[in-house]
Amino acid sequence: MHIHWMDRFADRTARIQPSSIREILKLTQNSNIISFAGGLPSPEYFPNQQIMRATRRALEEHGVEALQYGVSDGFLPLREMLVRHMLRYGIVCTPENILITTGSQQALDLIGRVLINPGDSVIVEEPTYLGALSAWNAYGAEYVTVPSDDEGMRVDAVEHALRTTHPKFIYALPNFQNPSGTTLSNKRRLELVRLADQYEVPIIEDDPYGQLRYEGDHISSLFSIEAYNACLESDGVNFPMARNVIYLSTFSKTLCPGLRVGWVVAHHDVINQMVTAKQGTDLHTSTFAQVVAYETARGGFLDRHIRQLRRVYIERRNKMLAAMEAYFPPGVVWTKPEGGLFIWVTLPHGLDSHELLKKAIEDEVAFVPGSDFYPCGGGENTMRLNFSNPTLDEIEVGVKRLAGVIEAAMQRRQMPA
Ligand SMILES: Cc1ncc(COP(=O)(O)O)c(C=O)c1O
Repeated sequence: MHIHWMDRFADRTARIQPSSIREILKLTQNSNIISFAGGLPSPEYFPNQQIMRATRRALEEHGVEALQYGVSDGFLPLREMLVRHMLRYGIVCTPENILITTGSQQALDLIGRVLINPGDSVIVEEPTYLGALSAWNAYGAEYVTVPSDDEGMRVDAVEHALRTTHPKFIYALPNFQNPSGTTLSNKRRLELVRLADQYEVPIIEDDPYGQLRYEGDHISSLFSIEAYNACLESDGVNFPMARNVIYLSTFSKTLCPGLRVGWVVAHHDVINQMVTAKQGTDLHTSTFAQVVAYETARGGFLDRHIRQLRRVYIERRNKMLAAMEAYFPPGVVWTKPEGGLFIWVTLPHGLDSHELLKKAIEDEVAFVPGSDFYPCGGGENTMRLNFSNPTLDEIEVGVKRLAGVIEAAMQRRQMPA
């Protein structure tokens, strides 16, 4: 008997859709298409030599630990190093507040596992990171969306959502947001933390890009703002820690995504629950990958490498902005990110970027249609462009091709260019 598998899958699978980004990436692989679609770091700047040396050291110096089963919360020297690394960004914690995850994507899934009951609502900005929606759809999350502008998530809208719904948590991407590239202003961060505290709603702060700032000053994380508030309220005896913010970051954009090493910083009650959930998922993140990440990053290499990436990516960002300025027709607007990997483009109303993508692929350029980042619909006339993966020449040629596709679509619709 041949089982008809489609009848056997769990109900939750109906809510799990394949990622359109992965589908586009499949299309663009091994072709002449210039892709602005993925969120991929530049492969020319992967730290190959450093990782080779680190792999040797991992085996020579930590052979048993690297190859054996490990503890679920993660390789202790790595967590200790992260404590020191994050301190530089104003995040104060102890190794007990850190869980190493198999990329930040797993952290999002574990958060869904431990926090979301079917039907729970989650406040997300619009547009928001598609991967978080994919993770939480499986747990039956519903979304309350709030609009964003050049200063990031509109906090007045968050307040309205908090007053009218009972969300499980707020999902925020304060730095160089994926997909829009915008940064939440300091004023809004302070207000968001205050509101979350007032309404007793936790914040999930997803920060894979915070270290990739190309201009402007570092802005305190929601985690550190909350910890500072906790400090003011503390008894002066106990160590003040953020209580209501769960902070996520990763080595995917600063070392390489193939390692699949990310981390969560949170109150130990949250970490303990996530550790338990992780035991049922993968027992622990690959010990080998963790030891290699540790041996690669330590001794100041991570900071030096991040400085190099900043120099490379600011050039690519500037190139893309200049090419857009030169080639895009009037009526098209875009964000000017201070860091991260993405620029967000808004086309004149009436244009559908999904339609445009088909033509763009024929003309050998790709992007991600923006509506995919809107959980409740909308954003048809928007698109996300990645500038970290293509070379400077590819950016120039690709933006020119894309401008041609947009202009042709505007002409077909008889829009003034
Ligand atoms: C906002 C955001 N969160 C999480 C992730 C997942 O990162 P990781 O590769 O660490 O799983 C990404 C990856 O692009 C991202 O942009």
